[in-house]
Amino acid sequence: MTTRAPIARFTRLRHATFASPDPERLLDYYRAVIGLGLVARDGNRIFLANDSEQLSLVIEPGEAALTSIAFEISPDVQIEALGVALKQADLRPELQSDPLPGVSFSDPEGTRFELIQGWTPTPAQERIGALAVTKLGHVALRTPDPHAASEFYANVMGLRVSDWIEDRFVFMRSGFEHHTLNFARAPGRGLHHFAFELRGPTHMHQACDHLARHKLPVLWGPVRHGPGHNTAIYHRNPDGHLVELFCDLDRMTDEALGYFEPRPWHRDRPQRPKVWVGLPRDVWGMPPSPECTEFAR
Ligand SMILES: [Fe+2]
Repeated sequence: MTTRAPIARFTRLRHATFASPDPERLLDYYRAVIGLGLVARDGNRIFLANDSEQLSLVIEPGEAALTSIAFEISPDVQIEALGVALKQADLRPELQSDPLPGVSFSDPEGTRFELIQGWTPTPAQERIGALAVTKLGHVALRTPDPHAASEFYANVMGLRVSDWIEDRFVFMRSGFEHHTLNFARAPGRGLHHFAFELRGPTHMHQACDHLARHKLPVLWGPVRHGPGHNTAIYHRNPDGHLVELFCDLDRMTDEALGYFEPRPWHRDRPQRPKVWVGLPRDVWGMPPSPECTEFAR
């Protein structure tokens, strides 16, 4: 195991970029169901913000796929020096200045990440309705080797491991929240699911009703998970991507203590990062529908 300092430290998940065969249909879904608002159009690209004026998603034309994930880094980092370090690590960096200073790179399996500095409000041009989620909360990727992925993101990008499910699913935190980036064992790299945060159980209840009104079946949940202890529901967006809505995610409020903020639903006291083995793993809730069973093995 290497002892060198990470090249960069991901802090906060900022936004994700998706390619879509029908960007306008996807825009309609995010406006009417998730509750994001249009910020701007730049050529073929569509920028969407949530109700706290943070850019959450970018949509561009193409085959349905995740294109890149953006994390914020400390304002103290020198971007040019970061670019040099990423180049030395053979991560194919590209400097970018618009709309915020930053640099992008490709991880060893080819997923593009953007590291950006600073924060400027990106208010939507329109009134935000529907669910008005609070933010993009996490992204889970498929990978043939979650151990290699977790070592790369721990050693090179400063993430910490929060939990493993056996040796096939790792939850990693970049800030105090239990997970912002996950890796699930699968034959190839790609998106597993991504998740938006809700404000609490009342909002979760509203989300179930809202999905039903839009004839979007809840494929799993409500359920209170074991790892992370978030309550969650899952559905598919018009491009077939699995979207989670969650609340009550565990928080490591003090890294020095090494355990998650105590909650009444914890069965370990204190609840420390661990390897979860066997079923039942979830605290409560029904098993997933067959379409989601890959989560529950
Ligand atoms: Fe999730």
